[in-house]
Amino acid sequence: MDVEVSKRLLFKQFLRITVIFFLIIKGVFGLHYVNIEVPSEVKRGSEVTLRCLYDLQEKPLYCVKWYRGTHEFYRYSPGEAPTKKLFPFPGITVDLSQSNETQVVLENVGPNLSGNISCEVTSEAPNFSSNTASSTMSVKEIPEHAPNVETEKKSYDVGEILRANCTSPPASPPATLSFFLNDMPVGEPDARWFKSIPDGTLQWSFLSLNLPLESHHFQQNQLILRCTAIVGTLYRQSYEVSLSSKQREPVPERVTSPNLTSRTSTTSVHLTLFFAAWMVAR
Ligand SMILES: *[C@@H]1O[C@H](CO)[C@@H](O)[C@H](O)[C@H]1NC(C)=O
Ligand SMILES: *[C@@H]1O[C@H](CO)[C@@H](O)[C@H](O)[C@H]1NC(C)=O
Ligand SMILES: *[C@@H]1O[C@H](CO)[C@@H](O)[C@H](O)[C@H]1NC(C)=O
Ligand SMILES: *[C@@H]1O[C@H](CO)[C@@H](O)[C@H](O)[C@H]1NC(C)=O
Ligand SMILES: *[C@@H]1O[C@H](CO)[C@@H](O)[C@H](O)[C@H]1NC(C)=O
Repeated sequence: MDVEVSKRLLFKQFLRITVIFFLIIKGVFGLHYVNIEVPSEVKRGSEVTLRCLYDLQEKPLYCVKWYRGTHEFYRYSPGEAPTKKLFPFPGITVDLSQSNETQVVLENVGPNLSGNISCEVTSEAPNFSSNTASSTMSVKEIPEHAPNVETEKKSYDVGEILRANCTSPPASPPATLSFFLNDMPVGEPDARWFKSIPDGTLQWSFLSLNLPLESHHFQQNQLILRCTAIVGTLYRQSYEVSLSSKQREPVPERVTSPNLTSRTSTTSVHLTLFFAAWMVAR
C-alpha cells in the first residue's frame, strides 16, 4: 500500500516539474509557432492572399512584419496608430482593407515579386521574442491563347513523313510543348526553340515534328495529332488536328475505335428512327 502511494506522489511530482520546465522554456525563449501560407505559383496580374498563422501562447502581439527578400512591405502593430503600415516597394500593391494581423492581400502581382516572402511575428514586452516563417512564390505569365498546329498536308499514308509545327504565344517561363499522335507521345524533345518578344521577359515557344509514319500509327484508322502547352501547374492547353489516312478513308465499316463506333451507330439509329417516323407521318 505504502509503495503504491509513494509511486503516485512521485508521478505527480514528475508531472509538476515537467509542466514548470515547459513554462520556463516558453517564458524565457518565447517559443511560438509561425506558419506561412503562400501559393507557390501565381498568374501575373492576379490578386494573391498571403497568410501568416501563429500562436503566441497567450502573450500579446507586438507586430507582424512582411518581407519580400529583405525588404519589408507591410507591418501590422496593434499598439500603434495606424495599426497597418505600408513600405513602398516597386511592383507590390497591397490592398489595406483586406489586410490584417493574419493576412496581406496583394493586387495585380508583377513578375518581379517572385522570390522569398516571409513573415516575422513578435510578441509584446518584456520578451519581444520573434519568429519567422518564409516561403517562395513564383509569378508566371501564361499564354494568351491555346497553341496552334500547322501540318504540311491534310492526309497521310504509311511511309510518308508527317511534318508539323506547334506554336504557343508568349509566356514566362515559355510554355513546354509536346506532340501526341493518337494519344502516344511522338517527336524529339530537342526540336523545340524559343523566341523572345521585344519587351524581353516573355518568349514564344515552338516545336517541330518530323515523323516517318509507320503502319502501327494507322492502327486506329485515324491520325489525331495533338500539341499540348504547359506552364508550371497554372496552365495546360491543347490543340488537336484530325488528319485523314489516304489508305482506309473510304471504308468506315472498319472503324475500330469503340468511341467512334458507338457514336457512328447512335447517329445511324437516330437517322433510321427519323426516317421511320417520316414514313409513318406520310
Ligand atoms: C519591379 O517592376 C517595377 C515595374 O514593373 C519596377 O519599377 C521595379 O523597379 C521593379 N522592382 C525590382 C525590385 O526589380
Ligand atoms: C483578417 O481578414 C480576413 C478576411 O477579411 C478574415 O477572414 C480574418 O478573420 C481576419 N483576421 C483577423 C484576425 O481578424
Ligand atoms: C527567406 O527569407 C528569410 C528571412 O529573411 C530567410 O531566413 C531565409 O533564409 C530566406 N530563404 C531563402 C530560400 O532565401
Ligand atoms: C515549320 O517551321 C519551319 C521554320 O519556321 C518552316 O521552315 C516550315 O515550313 C514549317 N512547317 C510547317 C509544316 O508549317
Ligand atoms: C473513349 O471513351 C472513354 C469514356 O467514354 C474515354 O475515357 C476515352 O478517353 C475515349 N477514347 C478516345 C480515344 O476518345
